[in-house]
Amino acid sequence: MKVLVVGGAGYIGSVAARALRDAGHDVVVYDNLSTGHEEALSRGSVFVRGDIADAQRLEETFRVHQFDAVMHFAGLIQAGESMRLPGLYFANNVVYVITLLNLMLKHSVMNFVFSSSAAVYGNPDRIPIDESAPTCPTNPYGESKLIVERLLKWYGSQCGLNYASLRYFNAAGATDDLGEEHNPETHLIPLTINSVLGMGPDLTIYGTDYPTPDGTCIRDYIHVLDLADAHILALEKVFSGESITCNLGNGTGFSVKEVIDMVGRVSGKPVPVVEGPRRHGDPAVLVASSDKAKEVLGWRPKRTDLEEIVESAWRWKSSHPNGFRK
Ligand code: UFG
Repeated sequence: MKVLVVGGAGYIGSVAARALRDAGHDVVVYDNLSTGHEEALSRGSVFVRGDIADAQRLEETFRVHQFDAVMHFAGLIQAGESMRLPGLYFANNVVYVITLLNLMLKHSVMNFVFSSSAAVYGNPDRIPIDESAPTCPTNPYGESKLIVERLLKWYGSQCGLNYASLRYFNAAGATDDLGEEHNPETHLIPLTINSVLGMGPDLTIYGTDYPTPDGTCIRDYIHVLDLADAHILALEKVFSGESITCNLGNGTGFSVKEVIDMVGRVSGKPVPVVEGPRRHGDPAVLVASSDKAKEVLGWRPKRTDLEEIVESAWRWKSSHPNGFRK
C-alpha cells in the first residue's frame, strides 16, 4: 500500500512511518518540520516538506502519488495552549483536516487513520474508560479531536470513507533512535528525565491533593511502539472496508509519583522534585479500557510495564542529550 503520513516527522508519526516501512508499505511523509525533525524521517520514505495549511502543496502531492491511504499525525497537542489559543487549534486540528479529507475524496483515497485522543472524554465518570463513556472535552484540543471524529462519521456514511479514530492515552517511551522531543516539552516522562540530567528545572508535581492513593494524578502510559502496531492493524481494518473508533491505552494507571520513582530507579539518580499546585484542567485519573481495540483490531500492547516504558525513554534521551540535533 502507498500511504501518505501527514506529520510523519513527529514523535508518534515517525515511529508509525517506520512501522509502515517495516510492514512493507510505501510511505510518503508530508511535514512542515515545525515540531517534527528531518532526522526522524523514516529511511526509504519519500519526504515532502509542506504545511497542512498549504492546500496547493497537498493537492500537488496527491496528484504526483496515487495513495491508498492517509494517516494524520499533524495535530497540535497541548491542552493548556489550546485554552489560550482555541482558534489556532480549531484551524489546525479541524479546518485543515477537512481540507485534507476533501482532497482525499477528490483523489479517490478512501482510507484514513486519525490520531484522536483520550482528551475527547474530559473528566470521566468511570474508570477504566471505554468508548461508550460520554465525550465531554474540557479544552479546545479535546474538542477539536471530537469534532473531527464526528465529521468522520458523515464522511463515512455519506461519502464512503473508511476510517479509524484512535484515541491515544499518554503516548510514552522511545525506540533506540526515535524519541520524544517537543519544544517546549510539557510531558511528564521527558521533563522528569531532563531534570535528572540537569537539562531542565526541578520537576514540579502538579498537585498532591487528588483523590488518588498518593494524591497525584494517575495516567495510562502507552508505549509509542504499541501505538505504531495499532496503526498498522487499523490500516488493515480500514482497507477491508470497515471503520472503527477505539481507545489505545495499556489499561494500567500509574501516578505521577510512581513515574518519578521509576525514573529515579532506571537512571540510578535522585530526581529533583518540588511540589506545586494542580495544573488547570487535569483530571485525577485517566485509564483506558482497550478491550475494543483488542477485540476488533486484534491489538495487544506488548510493552505495558512502566519500567520498560521509562527505560526506553531514558535510553533514548541519554544517548541523544540534544534530541535530534547533533
Ligand atoms: N505533570 C506533572 N508535572 C509536569 C508535567 C506533568 O506533575 O511537569 C503531571 C500532569 O499534571 C499529569 C501527568 O503528569 O497528571 C501527565 O501529564 P502530561 O502533560 O505528560 O500528559 P497529559 O495527561 O496532560 O496529556 C497527554 C497528552 C494529551 C492527551 C492525554 C491523554 O499530552 O494530548 O495525554 O491522556 F490527550
